This record gives sequence, C-alpha cells and structure tokens, in this order.
Amino acid sequence: MKSLRSFLYLPAWFVKTRVFGKKIPLQTVLFVSDQCNLRCKHCCVYAQKSITKKSYEQIKEELQYAYGLGSRFVDFEGGEPTLWRDGEHDLNSLIRLAKEIGFFSTTVTTNAVMPFHGLEADSIWVSMDGVGPYHDRVRGEGVFDRLVRNIETCGHPHLSVNMVVSKLNYESLDDAIEFARTNPHIRSISINFLTPYPGTESHQLDWDTRRALIDKVIAYKKRGYPIMNSVSGLKLMKTNQFKKYCWISNFITVDGKNHPDCGGSELGLCDQCGFCMAGEMHSVMTLRPDTILAGLKLRM
Ligand SMILES: C[S@@+](CC[C@H](N)C(=O)[O-])C[C@H]1O[C@@H](n2cnc3c(N)ncnc32)[C@H](O)[C@@H]1O
Ligand code: SF4
Repeated sequence: MKSLRSFLYLPAWFVKTRVFGKKIPLQTVLFVSDQCNLRCKHCCVYAQKSITKKSYEQIKEELQYAYGLGSRFVDFEGGEPTLWRDGEHDLNSLIRLAKEIGFFSTTVTTNAVMPFHGLEADSIWVSMDGVGPYHDRVRGEGVFDRLVRNIETCGHPHLSVNMVVSKLNYESLDDAIEFARTNPHIRSISINFLTPYPGTESHQLDWDTRRALIDKVIAYKKRGYPIMNSVSGLKLMKTNQFKKYCWISNFITVDGKNHPDCGGSELGLCDQCGFCMAGEMHSVMTLRPDTILAGLKLRM
C-alpha cells in the first residue's frame, strides 16, 4: 500500500512541477547539527568553534514543515549525523519520526568513523574520497581503515559510497570504483566533484581533467560497474551549462533556515558546481530514461 502511494505520488508530482510549473521539493536535506569528528580538507560545514545542535522538537517541526511543502524523501546530514543525540533520542528516533510523518524513505550520509550497526535508514551513503592514503589525505590518518571496518560490521543491505573528486584524490578514482565493485558491503558508488565553497577553492580540479574523468566514469558505467550516476547526468556535468532544477531538493541548515535552492546557488557557484545531482535533476525533468531508472533504483 505504502509503495503504491509513493508510486502514484511521483507522476502526480511530475505533472504539477513540469506541466504546471510549480516548484515543489521532493527531497529534503536536513542538517541535524554541525558537530563533527573530522575536519575534512574539502569541507566548510563542520563547526569550527561552538557546536550548533538541533533539538528533537525542532527537527520534528522541520520535518513536518518539509512534508507540508510536498517533500517525501529526507536525507539526514551534518556535521556527522550519527553523533546526534537529544536526551533519550538518537538518529534512529529521527528516522522513525520521519516515517511516522509520512516520508517515503530516509537516508543518512555518514563519514563511517564510528560504528553505525543498527541504523534504521532505508539507505546509507558513506563518504569515501578514494582508497587508503587518498581518503586519509582528505579526511585524516587512519580514517579509511575505520570506514572499511565499520561498513563491514554495519550489515545494512542498502549501503553505497559517495566520492567527492578533487585535486587531492583524483588519482584514486579508478581504485575507488574498483573497491566499490568488489567490496561485498557496497551496492554502488556515486561520483561528485568538489564545489569550491569558501576556503576549499584551491582543491578544485581544472575543467579538462574533470571532463576526462567524467569520460572515464561513463566508460566504467557502460562496462557494468555499479555507478549510481546516469550517463545523461554525467554528460551534463562536463560543462555545467544546463537549466538547473535544484529546487527539487530543499535544504534546512543548522541555523534552522529553509533554503528552497542549494547553498551553492546562493553563493553564485552554479557554474562551478560539482554535485552531480544537479545533472541528474535536469535529466529527470527532461525525461531521460536512464536517469529516471537510476533515480527509481536509488529511491524505491
Ligand atoms: C557535509 S558532509 C555531512 C555528512 C558526513 N559528515 C559525511 O562526511 O559524510 C556531506 C557530504 O558533503 C560532501 N562535501 C563536503 N564538502 C564538499 C564540497 N566542497 N564539495 C562537494 N561535496 C562536499 C562530503 O564529502 C559528504 O559526502
Ligand atoms: S566528516 Fe562530513 S561534515 Fe565532517 S568535516 Fe568531513 S565532510 Fe565535513
């Protein structure tokens, strides 16, 4: 029944947005806190001084608000979301709450530094920025070994990895794709590029290298490697010159503000964006079959 409801929701959402031009978010990225146990070189969202942590009640209100806007998928982010607690509540309490409110599916994005066995999200994204020393170069010494151990013990059937490619780790792209293919605990890998948020610009790749890497990823995909990105979406990320539909995700940041579009667009970074979801969203809205298939696989 629930899957029928969600199956019918998506075409209705498409007609309202594409045909009638309404901007209704489908996915909410909810930042629960900016507390983090890492200081990744490509990141600028972790708390540098004092930590901001939302209460259970605040997150409940935000989930209800997002649901009221029309959103039906939620991704819990931070900071490191697995560190979040409020009294007897932990991240699983938020996942259950989202389901009670009516969200079709929940996702958690984690750095996998701490064990996350028993996490009840429908799917888990582990950030893996290369293999071995490349991951550690971005995220800190010993972090890759912890990731390997923690994905091995987590036992979650829907775990994928997400790589943010930059000058720091692009040489590890092949190994990361191969690692995702051969590791029995990983279903797929999603490839993104560094978006030059303030303070991270020096790690951004030049466009020729980025284009060559995208061609390489497309070739892997065509050979059957478990790459989450669609070919249509990847091709768009070679130039970033396409109409953006990033309002499909709304972002509720740690200050409690709702951003109907992503933070990158507010900073004028769309031309430099590395979030391949931008290309995927365009491809969904222009009805590219390979992207729709990839999206359904990811979400349903
Ligand atoms: C901000 S983190 C929060 C969740 C968790 N702490 C983690 O690392 O997975 C969410 C994702 O954003 C990515 N990210 C951080 N800075 C980025 C940047 N400048 N460009 C693109 N992606 C970035 C991270 O690599 C991670 O996959
Ligand atoms: S673990 Fe996530 S939130 Fe923390 S510094 Fe790294 S990318 Fe940023």
